[in-house]
Amino acid sequence: MSEQPIALVTGANRGLGFEVCRQLAAKGYTVFLSGRDLAKAEASATEINKNGGTVFAVALDTGGDVSVKEAANAILEKFGRLDVLVNNAGGNFDTHNLTTTVSMEYVRETLEMNLMGAWRVTQAMLPLLLKSAHARIVNVSSGAGAFESPIGFGLQKMGGVAPAYSVSKTALTALTVKLATELKDSGILINAVCPGWTATYPGGEAQGARPVADGAASIVWAATLPDDGPSGGFFRDGQRIPW
Ligand SMILES: NC(=O)c1ccc[n+]([C@@H]2O[C@H](COP(=O)([O-])OP(=O)(O)OC[C@H]3O[C@@H](n4cnc5c(N)ncnc54)[C@H](OP(=O)(O)O)[C@@H]3O)[C@@H](O)[C@H]2O)c1
Repeated sequence: MSEQPIALVTGANRGLGFEVCRQLAAKGYTVFLSGRDLAKAEASATEINKNGGTVFAVALDTGGDVSVKEAANAILEKFGRLDVLVNNAGGNFDTHNLTTTVSMEYVRETLEMNLMGAWRVTQAMLPLLLKSAHARIVNVSSGAGAFESPIGFGLQKMGGVAPAYSVSKTALTALTVKLATELKDSGILINAVCPGWTATYPGGEAQGARPVADGAASIVWAATLPDDGPSGGFFRDGQRIPW
């Protein structure tokens, strides 16, 4: 059994997931950097390890059971437990859609990506997390799915724009509450985090989005909570925010 805490991050070949892996590795965590394209995940893991770190690449597509179960088995065989799960994989920020006209196919795809994927991975990893004395689950949600958002995004502030994404993230935050409630006596701390508007795309910072390191730090805060930390909440930068 490893003394170092063991973390799994989904959708980590780039963007916030990659930076979360980098920051957790710098804190001494052994990290499973997962992605649906193993070659990309391997390249990303190598990049972090070059500067020191214990990062393993693992294939994991949150959209189906097969690779999720294989990843769980790989972690079980290697370490026998999991201390941190970061459900980061997600997307489809559909600013090109309106609630009244978005196709149901697109909505279904987005719910699968942003809600069902995290749900599926959590169920698969739960036996491993229950073997940890200090387990944490972080669901990477968004203020876009909040009723009240102190920054520019939110269910009402955005009007009909980004319907599939917004509703999927509201649901992900709700899933967080349901999990935390059911597992309240397990010792697992389960929270949703909004990383804030983060420049994970070219030109983002010029538009006002914040650096990726800052958005990732918001997630890492919830992944590294002390045992008396909160559970079932929605946070940005360590501050509880309404949803
Ligand atoms: N950036 C922001 O301003 C912001 C704000 C609030 C919340 N968030 C949330 O933060 C998370 C990360 O966002 P980001 O900005 O870093 O996005 P990103 O750069 O587009 O990265 C998204 C990651 O998710 C992966 N992914 C998508 N579907 C997947 C699947 N089925 N299985 C496995 N991986 C999958 C992608 O993999 P591929 O490379 O294979 O496509 C990619 O690695 C998302 O959940 C997003 O909604 C972002």
